[in-house]
Amino acid sequence: MTPEDERRSTRWEVYALGALAIFIVIFGLSDLAGWTGSGRSQWPAEFESNGERIYFTGTSESGQAIRSFGGNQHNLMMRGNACVACHGADREGDRLFMSFWQSAPAITPEALAGDHGDDGHAHDAYDQASLSRALADGVRPDGSTIGADMPRWQLSGADMQDLVTYLLPDSTDEH
Ligand code: HEC
Repeated sequence: MTPEDERRSTRWEVYALGALAIFIVIFGLSDLAGWTGSGRSQWPAEFESNGERIYFTGTSESGQAIRSFGGNQHNLMMRGNACVACHGADREGDRLFMSFWQSAPAITPEALAGDHGDDGHAHDAYDQASLSRALADGVRPDGSTIGADMPRWQLSGADMQDLVTYLLPDSTDEH
């Protein structure tokens, strides 16, 4: 390479880094402005159940904040410590803040209880008991471990029951 070639390739590296930086900034701003699924504009005006309140606020009816361990720290810092921060207002899943190449899966009743080998997340169907276990211990019904980006949750028995009833009502026979 001539010195001229070398200067040119260095310049391209600078351009590429600059473009990457701009991309990250734009992604971050759109996220903060609430344009993504966890945006407040998509929240219900009022919570219809304690479970729904926990999903959106991470705080139960009694005013008690639920406790969590681990999980994707960028996401928890920027979007708060509630399910909605990662799984989105519609529970269809969402990209993780900063680690936007990773995402939290859909946790709709269909996704949890249905058979859905088509989305790359094949697992045994959840019921309320196995869902409680997954939230507390990070273990799926088939015994596999849920990744470390998902926090582990410590809720009172009643709050856990309310949460899993909200996520997986008994009436999941629509599909
Ligand atoms: C910091 C982000 C984050 C928060 C907050 C979070 N999750 Fe997750 N969750 C994830 C990620 C990422 C995964 C997928 C991990 C993996 O790939 O194994 C996941 C997986 C799950 C799964 C397993 C789904 C499956 O396909 O087996 C369930 C169920 C779940 N989350 C429910 C919840 C509930 C309920 C809450 C609130 C109490 C919550 N999550 C809060 C990021 C989060």
